[in-house]
Amino acid sequence: MRDPLVLDQAHGADWSIYNADCVTFAQAMPDASVDLSVFSPPFSNLYVYSESAADHGNCVTDEEFFDHYRFLVRELYRVTRPGRLCAIHVKDLVYYQNSSADGSAGLRAFSDGCTRVHLEEGFTFHCRITIHRDPVLERAKANPHGLLWKTFQGDASFCRVGMPEYLMVYRRWARPGEKALVKPVLHPKAEVPLERWQDLAGPVWRTDDASVALTYGDPRRAVGSLVWNLQDPGRGDGDLPATDVLNVEVARDPDAERHLCPMPLNITKRAIELWTNPGEVVFSPYTGIGSEGVAALSMGRKFIGTELHPTYYGQACHFLDEASRQVAYGSLFDLLAAE
Ligand SMILES: C[S@@+](CC[C@H](N)C(=O)[O-])C[C@H]1O[C@@H](n2cnc3c(N)ncnc32)[C@H](O)[C@@H]1O
Repeated sequence: MRDPLVLDQAHGADWSIYNADCVTFAQAMPDASVDLSVFSPPFSNLYVYSESAADHGNCVTDEEFFDHYRFLVRELYRVTRPGRLCAIHVKDLVYYQNSSADGSAGLRAFSDGCTRVHLEEGFTFHCRITIHRDPVLERAKANPHGLLWKTFQGDASFCRVGMPEYLMVYRRWARPGEKALVKPVLHPKAEVPLERWQDLAGPVWRTDDASVALTYGDPRRAVGSLVWNLQDPGRGDGDLPATDVLNVEVARDPDAERHLCPMPLNITKRAIELWTNPGEVVFSPYTGIGSEGVAALSMGRKFIGTELHPTYYGQACHFLDEASRQVAYGSLFDLLAAE
């Protein structure tokens, strides 16, 4: 296997991130080495993060994006432990009048395109979680014709509902001969109440849901809430509650796309809680500023990530370092309290 081109790398006790192209890096990862992948891919050409030809957001059409994304998904299938999952945070995309060949406007089913690629590369479709978004905030941010009060009054045939996001989840089934690699994810009754399971099983997750994973039982174990307040309130996508995302501090870098769209921390934590055991490996190929890593570390998981953009990579190093310190501080607190 060829060496990936790694521009920089940083490591902590339970994490490693690489300033590298996710595809070439994943090609060098060992088989069945990841227990859960959770990440936001670039939403096709919605934002271009850098001028790099390797930047998957640097594409003209959705099909071009999927052509590149497919190479990653192929590796994700190989590196995922048999019987485990890959959860991607996506949304459908809007196109406007005159931006299409026939001058029409509507939605592009980007999430379905992602599913197509995952299925073609061997995964099965496991489930779709809808992440609720407030249409009033979307209206304030983007002013879409379909969400205007005057459209509702003038000709409601143009009205649409607000755009949710999704966590699309795909499973890599064990093939014959791989049974020995399968490892169940366990939630012992003594540790996880039925109500928590019923909550996690809901098909709609909210970014303003305050039930941070693992806060039930002994409150001192709520390491997630320590990391939650890691930095000043995040800005995120404009419609996120202040404490739900890491703060994007790239304003001083003119080359960095400011609309990073960090992955909501509580959504990521719910996925990690549901689909991994403590100590397992979480992978994000598009690490950005490190949200998935912070969520993983705060829940006692290990994290590996790749990020192409040097500014985001630098921020992710900072956040992961900070998160592991806070987790260590939490463990020390536990130890002292137990004495
Ligand atoms: C939607 S953002 C991810 C945000 C991240 N989930 C967070 O919360 O910070 C997509 C990221 O993918 C990165 N990216 C794009 N192409 C890449 C590639 N080929 N390899 C690694 N990272 C890439 C972009 O620089 C961007 O930071």
